[in-house]
Amino acid sequence: MKYFKMRAVIRVASYAWLVFIPLMFAPLLVSAAERDPLQPRVPQDQLEAAKAVTNPFPSTSDNIAKGDGLFHGKGTCFICHGAKGQGDGPASVGFDPSPRNFTNPEFHRARTDGELMWVLKNGSAGTAMVPVVGSVIDEEEGWLILLYERSLGRPSP
Ligand code: HEC
Repeated sequence: MKYFKMRAVIRVASYAWLVFIPLMFAPLLVSAAERDPLQPRVPQDQLEAAKAVTNPFPSTSDNIAKGDGLFHGKGTCFICHGAKGQGDGPASVGFDPSPRNFTNPEFHRARTDGELMWVLKNGSAGTAMVPVVGSVIDEEEGWLILLYERSLGRPSP
């Protein structure tokens, strides 16, 4: 009897790593939160100039579709921002702050197009959002992607 119990204990113990090793990595799998998405990212001394810049492209369904293609294609934005722009892409894990959730209408209200373009050109200091215009995409493509990201924050008609 005792012998069988011992064997059972050993058998359970030998599988315990299946539970404990994944648990050790669990903290890495928890995405951090966004950092106050309503606060400006452009430094104070450049904020006014950045806010005044406007998107030269109209928000037509054609341009939004082009932006969609670039967001998921050449721009590879989805890797961090998620296929639906919710800030939960496959590479978002472990980033603190986490990538922007573009489905939040409050965020869109808090920013002008010019501020968003400033971040595309300069990145957001101290975060995983590096400058993308001039490296991954050009400015025109950036404006089209912004039209797509904006569309995610509008309730569908
Ligand atoms: C390596 C991960 C990563 C990739 C790839 C990435 N982003 Fe980001 N992005 C972030 C993070 C993290 C933030 C949040 C930064 C912060 O809180 O200041 C962010 C924020 C933003 C913002 C919000 C700026 C603001 O004013 O709050 C915009 C717009 C944006 N990204 C656009 C893009 C576009 C367009 C692409 C693709 C060309 C892209 N991102 C690719 C990680 C990424």
